[in-house]
Amino acid sequence: MDTISEIKQKIDIVDLVGSYVSLKKAGRNYKGLCPFHSENTPSFMVSPELQIFKCFGCGEAGDIFKFVQKIEGVEFSTALEQLAQKAGVKLEKRDYDPESSKRKQLYHINSLTARYYHYILTKHPQGKKGLEYLTQKRKLKPETIEFFQLGYAPDTWDSLLKFLKKQNIHENEMLDAGVITERSSGGGYIDKFRGRIIFPFKGIDGKIVGFNGRTIFDREPKYLNTTETAIFHKGSFLFNLANAKVDIKKEGAVIVEGQMDVITAYQAGIKNVIASSGTALAESQFKLLQRYTNDLTFCLDSDTAGVNAVYRAVEIAEKLGFNIKVAIIPPAYKDLDEIIKDSPSKAKKVIKDAVDVYDFYISSTLKANSKESALGKKLILETLVPIFSKIRNPVIIDHYSKILAAELNLSEDTINTMFKAGSANSYAESIPDENDKTPLLSRDNPEGYFLALLFKSDIDTMRKYAYKMDVEDFTNPIVVNIFQLLASYLKENRKSFNIKQIIKRAEEGYGDNISELYLWDFDGIIDFESPQILEREIESVFKRIKRDSAKRSVKVLTEQIKVAELEKNWDLVLKLTKKVEKLKKLFL
Ligand code: UTP
Ligand code: MN
Repeated sequence: MDTISEIKQKIDIVDLVGSYVSLKKAGRNYKGLCPFHSENTPSFMVSPELQIFKCFGCGEAGDIFKFVQKIEGVEFSTALEQLAQKAGVKLEKRDYDPESSKRKQLYHINSLTARYYHYILTKHPQGKKGLEYLTQKRKLKPETIEFFQLGYAPDTWDSLLKFLKKQNIHENEMLDAGVITERSSGGGYIDKFRGRIIFPFKGIDGKIVGFNGRTIFDREPKYLNTTETAIFHKGSFLFNLANAKVDIKKEGAVIVEGQMDVITAYQAGIKNVIASSGTALAESQFKLLQRYTNDLTFCLDSDTAGVNAVYRAVEIAEKLGFNIKVAIIPPAYKDLDEIIKDSPSKAKKVIKDAVDVYDFYISSTLKANSKESALGKKLILETLVPIFSKIRNPVIIDHYSKILAAELNLSEDTINTMFKAGSANSYAESIPDENDKTPLLSRDNPEGYFLALLFKSDIDTMRKYAYKMDVEDFTNPIVVNIFQLLASYLKENRKSFNIKQIIKRAEEGYGDNISELYLWDFDGIIDFESPQILEREIESVFKRIKRDSAKRSVKVLTEQIKVAELEKNWDLVLKLTKKVEKLKKLFL
């Protein structure tokens, strides 16, 4: 184990802070008067579970090292020395630059791991099944396997662990690298990847930052990737960017969902391909890409998840000024890999024939809804208006107004007006601008407050409200992200709630938001230690959010009613009016 972790294990933050500040238990946390600014009511919180402190008055926050640095007014290295002494831990030279030596060690472990798995796949009898899978089922050539340094993790409990031990790697370091995990029955460790094809993830400098493994035994999950480590951040990683950057500079980037799509495309001679590894692309990934190109072609799976990923990703990419095209996978195929298997030249043509993203929006929306019925038209407009209303260029707006008016048999003016007003628009309403800056931790922000209250309650109450609330009711993107994470965690039938696991699963940047919400003490205004008071407050915030959400929907529907009246579409007017009435009755 590295020295930092060893010290952290030996010194409890509650004891440490408690020797400077008098702390009182407050629910799962402790609170006291902040030593870093003057205050009369306590807003300084300490969490034994997370081993961190945070002051909601002055914003100071951190771990034991940060606390000592601040309170003693010393540099990190001095805080390290002091705490090492207190913990009885001997410091070594490399500890003076703990971050970089730790990262180095993680790279070292990853490189050993990749070599080990590659050896098993290509040279060892235990890798036979994996090799058969790749060469026969996935039709990969040995050169391709070499190029991507693919590997195979044998279907045994601890072969990697044993190998790394022989290389003098400590279990705690393996754990930090994410290549082993704790046995679920408790006690001991096992290899993280078992019975899987291993895809090493190379960072932009070519060093291995993490791994992804695909089962060859049809087990769940199909793919398993390294969780966040000190050197692997899913939100800013793109598979194959390290290899493809030169080609991407020349030809733009083709974005696919899976590693296998990238690999078979490479084998077919299409080299400017990168993968998002199944998640929706985040802003940090686009910013990384922007160093190399402004031209993107999305080539995502033809299922609905793929189409939705385009919608979300395009919104970010457009804001950043990318030129975006969409390559449409013919319905007979699931993804690029399948087309390539059938015919590489067909795959190249699909990419070459990519259409402008707005044409794609129109064609995919028309495909998903019947334009013959009033309801169909409404759904089509509900999807498209918010998208097109973001376009500033009037020539482009006019161009697409014409196309859509013809398709829907509506007047061009109506469409044009809607595009410009952009208010038929539940989609845009639910994704506010990033400059929506109501702080998360403010009681004026019912959404953040709602999450913070849930974090204070027991798991059954959490479940009840996570179930009653819809993610669409939220407008704050951080809240949306955390709520989704929480809801899926709660679905797992756990008996108790563990905040650490939520934070572990959070995407980059959100972990801090979660611990803040978790620690938030609401300035002592509500007594959350009484379950009744807590639940009453949750119920009232819940209603407020539902009411706000209903108000937004009513606004949107009212606009739509106006348009439907213009169109003299009385069926639709009636339907929309009923919807409004229902919302008013339920929530307003
Ligand atoms: P897909 O399920 O579309 O798989 O996931 P695929 O690439 O077509 O895989 P094959 O062809 O069946 O082997 C796309 C990507 O999403 C991530 C992986 O990175 C995968 O490449 N993924 C998928 C996961 O991380 N976990 C999963 O359980 C599934
Ligand atoms: Mn596939």
